[in-house]
Amino acid sequence: MDIVVVSIGGSVLIPDDNDFEYLSGLAELLVSLSRKVKLYIVVGGGRISRYYIKLGRKFGVDERILDEMGVSVTRLNAKLLISALSGNSNEYPATSVAEAVVIGSDHPIVVMGGTTPGHTTDGVAASLAEFVQADRVVNATAVDGVYTKDPNKYDDAEKITEMSFEELLECCKTSEWKAGPSNVFDAMGAEIIAKNRIPLLVVKGRDLEALESAMKGGSFSGTTVGGE
Ligand code: UTP
Repeated sequence: MDIVVVSIGGSVLIPDDNDFEYLSGLAELLVSLSRKVKLYIVVGGGRISRYYIKLGRKFGVDERILDEMGVSVTRLNAKLLISALSGNSNEYPATSVAEAVVIGSDHPIVVMGGTTPGHTTDGVAASLAEFVQADRVVNATAVDGVYTKDPNKYDDAEKITEMSFEELLECCKTSEWKAGPSNVFDAMGAEIIAKNRIPLLVVKGRDLEALESAMKGGSFSGTTVGGE
């Protein structure tokens, strides 16, 4: 059975756009796929975590505490996905990669949010993928792949369908960690993915058909990093 780690952004789960319908469809898809594929789902915090981080920063809150606020929101979102999965996954979000691995031994679907300060849930997904020797990581995002520039701002942004691990490392480089970033994939996660040569598939999470194909390892509309 293939092992697949999915990193799903909070901006995909609950953008306040038919969220109940989307979550219901996503849960149905995950349950049906879990008969063929071992699934680890890492849930992000999205705009709600960014909102807390922005307000907290105005109060001069330490970056580490801002990260902890972000982690709390990711776990809240993870709990919502667990609710949608109605008994088909673990009951409480795993709080560490090691705990997720243990839970995975008797649950077909494992759900978790963030872990410790200093990275995003993409980084958690990459660490987990390294630990469980995943066949692929699927990054379910708000856009349908990696673009040359922000497609929401620039009309001439072009979609990149294939990327090497080296190109991923180049585009995720950051100088210094600060809570609440929003990048293609976080720098720590990109390094783990590249070091272990784990294919990374970037797909629009709201497009359940594309998401299903990516999770199955079939052809899909999005960006493939490190494909053959
Ligand atoms: P996210 O993973 O949601 O960050 O974590 P993001 O890249 O902004 O995500 P999406 O894709 O739009 O959902 C939210 C924040 O929580 C903290 C970080 O500050 C991060 O920016 N965090 C999260 C941690 O410090 N550690 C973790 O393991 C996870």
